[in-house]
Amino acid sequence: MAHPGAAAPQTAMNPATPVQLAGLGRDTASAVLRALEQAGYRNLVTLPTSQRVRLQDDVVPGVVVVGVGAGSDYDPDAIAALFEARAPDVRVVALATRRSQALRAESVMAGASAYLTLPEDHGELRRTVGAVVEVFRAHKESRVVAGLGLRSGADGDLALLSRLGLTLDRLDTELGRHTRRVSHLAAETAAALGYGEPFCAALRYAARVHDLGKLVVPLSTLTAQGELTGAQVAAIRSHARLGANLLAGVGGELVAFTRELALRHHEWWDGGGYPDGLSGAEVPVSARIVAVADAFDAMTSHRSYRRARSLREAAEELERWSGAQFDPEVVAAFLRVVGGQSAARGCAVERAG
Ligand SMILES: [Fe+2]
Repeated sequence: MAHPGAAAPQTAMNPATPVQLAGLGRDTASAVLRALEQAGYRNLVTLPTSQRVRLQDDVVPGVVVVGVGAGSDYDPDAIAALFEARAPDVRVVALATRRSQALRAESVMAGASAYLTLPEDHGELRRTVGAVVEVFRAHKESRVVAGLGLRSGADGDLALLSRLGLTLDRLDTELGRHTRRVSHLAAETAAALGYGEPFCAALRYAARVHDLGKLVVPLSTLTAQGELTGAQVAAIRSHARLGANLLAGVGGELVAFTRELALRHHEWWDGGGYPDGLSGAEVPVSARIVAVADAFDAMTSHRSYRRARSLREAAEELERWSGAQFDPEVVAAFLRVVGGQSAARGCAVERAG
């Protein structure tokens, strides 16, 4: 799996994204600076901690790593204020020096795009900051495209989503392949449900990045095997809100549609899902469709800890959970898609790729 270590080469036309550090103790700040410098980041700024910095005024557009919790001047309220004032042009990484599930949840709710406990392994810090910097650059690029005055901002949205899809491919190849397959299956299912081309096309783009938040969940947690701890489960579940936070603040209708999908694709038909336990039609239909395609692809993909299920077994499992986890109408349409000759062939082609 590729890791986002070094920043991409910068030119005068593409100045380095500023990474600003605020509210970190001296030792923590110098450890973070060292790790990011080693990864090739050149535009690093440490904001003073001896006097209070008003984040919403003193942070410049870019990525800001904010110390939160014990030993920091800042708490999730500061992130919320920053997020409200500067959401379109900052992305916040909350960094705590002690593990705290409550602080993690508060920071993510306040709008942080990622949450880290200062890792002994600096690879995780580089991976997470790298992913947030990539998303920041994609946002910036999409604003430039939208600013060219092409049709009604839609081009900026497409530029952003395309770039984020490629970022997924580059930072995590399996996640990239998974989201490509889910995107294809979701669009086909939407068509089978009778939705027109504009909705199917929007869903194709949106589903491609539905798991964006996984880029900022610790890799050790994502790949943990055996029974997970409560904290690990909470960290994995936070990917829905983190993905929505990464997409927040800019863009047009297509980005808003994608953001909603990122936030809602683990809600269940019967209200048993997360992050908010919505049920039935409260869950957007885009998310109900992706939930089915996502589960089917997960079941039929090989994992190191279990064999891939056959298409028949996976279909039976969907039927078993129809009406509980999944919208029954969506399951029926999905099964028509994967049972149909052309769709089944399309699925096989995607998988072979
Ligand atoms: Fe997901």
